[in-house]
Amino acid sequence: AKVAVLISGAGSNMAALLYASQVGAPYEIVLVASNDPHAGGLSLAESEGIPTFALSHKGLKRAEHDAAMDAAIRKSGAQYVALAGYMRVLSDEMVQRWEGRMLNIHPSLLPKYKGLDPHARALEAGDEMVGASVHLVTTELDGGEVLGQAQVAVMGGDTPETLAHRVKLAEHQLYPRVLGDYVSRGNDPEYLLGRVRALAL
Ligand code: GRF
Repeated sequence: AKVAVLISGAGSNMAALLYASQVGAPYEIVLVASNDPHAGGLSLAESEGIPTFALSHKGLKRAEHDAAMDAAIRKSGAQYVALAGYMRVLSDEMVQRWEGRMLNIHPSLLPKYKGLDPHARALEAGDEMVGASVHLVTTELDGGEVLGQAQVAVMGGDTPETLAHRVKLAEHQLYPRVLGDYVSRGNDPEYLLGRVRALAL
């Protein structure tokens, strides 16, 4: 399966997805795109020979920016979009266009702590476990079906920063596995049977 990855920052999850694809994960990264031309992940992708696309959202309407991203994604031939630290809320139109084929990773055990600063909020609440979730993207922010989660134990002395670091290590294991399973589901007899049943109803 062909996948476009959208980033805004360091791109460590993008790198994890990419390296997994190089050692046999069932997908190929055909584009890394960013709304920040200075995102560190872009040069990493380039050095690995992956096509990149960067367009700042500044001065553009959300719908205009999304349309340009969408055009680049389509041109790349991607069948799926993986958001990996993409810090722009997408227009409903863009989300609906990729419904069922767009995934995101969020650093909390959803449905807890949607949105910003999940680690600080988990610490404040006294949670013993934090983690990350890969979910389908819907028009509700961080609200789509959860496809997989990884848990990380909170330790004494943890800060939002130490938690973010440990959760990220877990993210790098989680995202390639969940994306790989998701794009492979078409080969799964149970999944296909479910689809046939749904169509027959
Ligand atoms: C990750 O923690 C991800 O869960 C969140 O943004 C961060 C991106 O980090 N959505 P990176 O750019 O992949 O290193």
